[in-house]
Amino acid sequence: MGKLETIDWDSEAHLREPHAAYAIGRSESPVYPVPGKGVVMVFGYDEVLEALMKPMVFSSRNEQALLGPSINSPRCREIYARGWPQVETLLTNDPPSHTRFKKLVNRAFTREKVDALEGHITGIVDTLIDRFADAGACDFVQSLAIPLPCSVIAGQLGIDAADVPRVKAWSDAFIELIGSALTEDEQAARAEQVVAFQHYMKARIDERRSAPRADMLTDLLNARVDDERPLDEAELLSVAQQLMVAGNATTTHMLAGGLFTLIDNPAELARVRAEPSLIPNMVEELLRMQTPTQGMWRRATEDTTLGGVPIAAGTMLLLMFTSANRDEKYFPDPDRFDVGRDFRTAHVAFSRGIHTCIGMMLSRKELVVAFRRILERLDDIRLDPGHPRPRYIPSPLFRGVHELHITFRGRRDA
Ligand code: HEM
Repeated sequence: MGKLETIDWDSEAHLREPHAAYAIGRSESPVYPVPGKGVVMVFGYDEVLEALMKPMVFSSRNEQALLGPSINSPRCREIYARGWPQVETLLTNDPPSHTRFKKLVNRAFTREKVDALEGHITGIVDTLIDRFADAGACDFVQSLAIPLPCSVIAGQLGIDAADVPRVKAWSDAFIELIGSALTEDEQAARAEQVVAFQHYMKARIDERRSAPRADMLTDLLNARVDDERPLDEAELLSVAQQLMVAGNATTTHMLAGGLFTLIDNPAELARVRAEPSLIPNMVEELLRMQTPTQGMWRRATEDTTLGGVPIAAGTMLLLMFTSANRDEKYFPDPDRFDVGRDFRTAHVAFSRGIHTCIGMMLSRKELVVAFRRILERLDDIRLDPGHPRPRYIPSPLFRGVHELHITFRGRRDA
């Protein structure tokens, strides 16, 4: 029996700190059918990439992925009937339907449009830092890591600034429907949030139909590609929902996990303070090491092989981006945080192939701007000794911390 067979994949200790187990996986069995689980975990960089590049063999379609088990609850179905049907658009879709959505949504996410948001994002970051800079201490998650991505996506989806806190509540409701074991009452409460979000967004869409603005919602509404049909109402709502949900927790986890990593590596923090031009590369290194979307599901549509291992049709696979990003074959000394790392081989924190993250440029922009302003405006950042050391959440799919209490000396003049 190899060491891999002795790992308890459901234990809290593993879920909070999984990297030692994944290193064993890479060395013993990069494509690993987990005994008794009916799931194949994929640990190796080459093998993750091989699966990503065959989207018709390793399908992303998953009926339960949008609203979780609540779609089987008669009470939730009644609630959902007051809204619009969920449409498989991007994350949980396959070609050819996926191709149409991706082409249309890509129209709203061009580099020029994202670059044009830099000043706006800097303004949000500065306003948030202004609120806590003088206090000398804060919970960085609540003070910046949550509100920054919520405000940015809210602005792009036409959600009023006063309603930004609702963005977090709506995103959490979708994520909990998929990822948490909920009672019927809890499911129903979240189903109400789904429908509230749809009605809120429908009103914003109607506003833009009569008065277009310079935002992504207007771009999505007007997106036309070749002979593709434009997005209809239910499709627009599903796309807006996915943009909101996919971008929030991930960017929050990157900001908080990223700052945590910097605090834990004072020599690297000093290096990037001395040479701020390293910030974009540091962000790539943080994406590699944190990989907030640790893994994603695929289902084999036919009998096939992956990395030479036979895979039967219908098998569920969990592609572990987080393990691929520490594959020693491409990332020497992979557990070491190195702000100057040479990315000859790109990490897969944003996946690869047809499902490559649509928000990749936007979140990179948010991360670079936020870390630049944090380093310019906060000196002597440390963990607050008055609070327990942060712990990563025990999740097989997401990596992040829920709290990051820090102390610092704020600078107003920067
Ligand atoms: C650090 C932040 C982020 C990380 C780590 C991340 C990660 C990912 C990953 C790994 C995938 C691909 C999953 C797969 O292959 O099945 C993905 C897809 C996606 N992401 Fe992101 N994401 C981030 C931010 C965002 C933002 C800000 C947005 C939107 C504003 C966004 C929207 C999407 C969408 C719509 C997809 C589906 C694309 C498709 O299936 O074609 N993400 N993201």
